[in-house]
Amino acid sequence: MNEHENTETTEAAEPREAFPAEVTARLEPDAKEIIGRYPRQRSALLPLLHLVQAEEGHVSKAGMRFCADQLDLTLAEVNAVATFYTMYRRRPGGDYQVGVCTNTLCAVMGGDEIFQSLKDHLEVGNSETTGDGKVTLEHVECNAACDFAPVVMVNWEFFDNQTPETARKLVDDLRLGNDVAPTRGPASLCTWKQASRVLAGFDDGRAGEGVQAAEPSLAGLRLARERGWSAPDPNDLPPREQGEEDAK
Ligand code: FES
Repeated sequence: MNEHENTETTEAAEPREAFPAEVTARLEPDAKEIIGRYPRQRSALLPLLHLVQAEEGHVSKAGMRFCADQLDLTLAEVNAVATFYTMYRRRPGGDYQVGVCTNTLCAVMGGDEIFQSLKDHLEVGNSETTGDGKVTLEHVECNAACDFAPVVMVNWEFFDNQTPETARKLVDDLRLGNDVAPTRGPASLCTWKQASRVLAGFDDGRAGEGVQAAEPSLAGLRLARERGWSAPDPNDLPPREQGEEDAK
């Protein structure tokens, strides 16, 4: 599916600019709960965008209208935020967002090769979805998991130390409905909509499941302990060299 076709499909599927009354009534209590967590209501915009994304799988104009109404913002203000952050989809996508890190370290460790391999295997381009509606492929920036490079994320769960072969098997399993376990964290994946609801602030109780930090992340700590290293006391730092402040 190319970009042009996808956009046309999206527009045809979204002629309305507001949620049906039933959806608004169902989401309003959740929105009020989220807004109540912040001293200024406009600060709740990011989780509210995740809430509407959990409803539709993406942030539609109707979703942005809902956020604007709840927060007393203009549609332009909501649109400016929704289009700035890449965690919000602007058009329908698959149940599983497969994000391949192609930032520097992952790229040199094989991320570019993985991304190209998945494009060929799935026959989609960046930000496109397979015809069965299961997988949306994205290239993503650094996932702060460089010690496990190259990294693939599915609905923001980590799949570490990937190769083109393991990544192709991963997307095949997702499309077939086979059980898939992230390398770290919970033992199974939730859907994109379910993940969006968690990001809106409704805990699914699984955030603490499984291994959180594996050996590569802990290697520095282990070495420091073995060698008796510790961070300098911030109250006892050596005096700055002359001109050091200006150089910053
Ligand atoms: S460069 Fe890929 S996780 Fe940092």
